[in-house]
Amino acid sequence: MVRTIAIVNQKGGVGKTTTAVNLSVYLARLGRSVLLIDLDPQGNATSAFGVDHRALPEGIYEALSGLAPLKRVVQATVIDGHKLAPASISLAGANIELVNVERREHRLRDTLQEVAQEFNYIIIDCPPSLGLLTVNALVGADEIVIPVQAEYYALEGLSSLLETISLVRENLNPNLDILGALITMYDERYKLTHDVFHELYRYFPNRIFRTVIPRNVRLAEAPSYGKTIVQYDPRSKGARAYEKLAKEVIFTEKEISSLDIL
Ligand SMILES: Nc1ncnc2c1ncn2[C@@H]1O[C@H](COP(=O)(O)OP(=O)(O)OP(=O)(O)O)[C@@H](O)[C@H]1O
Ligand SMILES: [Mg+2]
Repeated sequence: MVRTIAIVNQKGGVGKTTTAVNLSVYLARLGRSVLLIDLDPQGNATSAFGVDHRALPEGIYEALSGLAPLKRVVQATVIDGHKLAPASISLAGANIELVNVERREHRLRDTLQEVAQEFNYIIIDCPPSLGLLTVNALVGADEIVIPVQAEYYALEGLSSLLETISLVRENLNPNLDILGALITMYDERYKLTHDVFHELYRYFPNRIFRTVIPRNVRLAEAPSYGKTIVQYDPRSKGARAYEKLAKEVIFTEKEISSLDIL
């Protein structure tokens, strides 16, 4: 069965794309078959694989609006078992173009039906907004990961995110679950980040990943070479953290299946 996980936070620059890219490649390295969807018009998850999103004739936008089958848009990446549904330039207009389309909040969910059988995981990288694209991700997903940057203002905006999530649950996708909040860019030298931990526990009791992503320059360098951390520096602290995160996500597969048995 496929698990669809959206990486969401309307706050910019908190590590959504870095998480979507590197979690998805480590899930593939651990034997899962994975589709990464770049739902952000900035196209950062696409360029992380060395694909120039400005030069693409079509991408996830065309699939969402029915102009191309998703299968035609999906491309293999250098990682075995890992595929990418890239963002092309047209995605920039999606928030407006999709407004008048039928079932506009369900476009991604409907589109994913086409390929759901082929994958164990579908990971969705979201833009830094709570607009229609993010709503499509929340409707298309079963679970959400919320990256939270370990900094003083990290929790700002979390209440409107949680509000959006509960609205989506009430009206569009009752099964949407928060898999966890993920602390990113953690630097243990700063005391401030310990306070952020405590506050975060109040927002997400029992829903914080044990894995913490450290601030690690190798993670920031990799995309400028069109590489994921697996190819760029698999021994770095950042790589090891994302591998651990993938294992933690895989571990929850077992929890789900054991709950099914009960
Ligand atoms: N753990 C980390 N250590 C160091 N740098 C990081 C780390 N995670 C992300 N970065 C860098 O921080 C910047 C923001 O990260 P990223 O693009 O993943 O965030 P984002 O939430 O996707 O941003 P946006 O909201 O613009 O889509 C990038 O330059 C990225 O390379
Ligand atoms: Mg991003």
